Amino acid sequence: MKPARRRLAVLILLCGWAPLAWAQSITERLAPCYSCHGDQGQSFNPDTPSLGAQPSPYLLIQLYMFREKLRNVELMNAAVKGFTDDDLRAFADTLAKLPPPPAATGPADPARLDRGRTLVQQHRCNICHLPDLAGRDNVPRIAGQREDFLVKTMREYKANIRPGYDASMGDVMQPVTDADILDLAYFAARQP
Ligand code: HEC
Ligand code: HEC
Repeated sequence: MKPARRRLAVLILLCGWAPLAWAQSITERLAPCYSCHGDQGQSFNPDTPSLGAQPSPYLLIQLYMFREKLRNVELMNAAVKGFTDDDLRAFADTLAKLPPPPAATGPADPARLDRGRTLVQQHRCNICHLPDLAGRDNVPRIAGQREDFLVKTMREYKANIRPGYDASMGDVMQPVTDADILDLAYFAARQP
């Protein structure tokens, strides 16, 4: 082969193979995440959030905060240790494309759903998280999220244990009582 042709062949090889190799590695690298967060990010694990269909910018910010230990959860600080910025971006983009978690099923108490819906409007959750609670940009999806995780994490915002990327949730939670938190989580977990 002439040198120019060989260079071209190598170039084609690199362009052809690099994305494939990367595609395999991100899938492989997601396997340990799924062991806690559930297959395709649909969590069946207590206190462990589903990740499917979270907005990519939200995921990127949270993964960055775990890596930098701005959000201190040992399991998660360890899970992303040594990740590059490109890794964080690849994980965020891939998880955002997974299907959303299914809404909690089973018989629902209409009175609690009504209280939850009223609280969502009163505290303007639907303004930032959108009317269907699907989130956007740096605001997470809470529709169909695990109820136990929603309760835990709202209590942590209120107690200033969970630092946010901005102060919105700390402020939002101040007037919200623990009984309200339970009804809000009950409602959000049951939204498709
Ligand atoms: C050993 C179990 C475990 C493993 C492995 C794990 N996670 Fe987590 N992850 C958790 C738990 C538990 C939380 C909730 C932390 C909290 O209480 O705030 C979490 C939180 C998160 C969050 C924040 C979600 C939110 O809505 O607040 C993201 C994003 C995340 N994990 C992504 C990943 C990725 C990507 C991987 C793989 C590189 C991974 N996790 C591996 C247990 C795990
Ligand atoms: C001013 C905008 C705003 C309002 C109003 C708001 N949120 Fe949020 N919410 C956010 C942002 C931004 C985040 C991500 C903060 C961070 O970085 O931790 C968030 C995070 C959350 C989370 C964490 C979800 C996860 O996957 O970790 C829950 C749960 C939540 N909000 C519930 C609510 C509820 C319930 C209400 C109404 C009572 C509400 N929010 C009102 C902006 C808002």
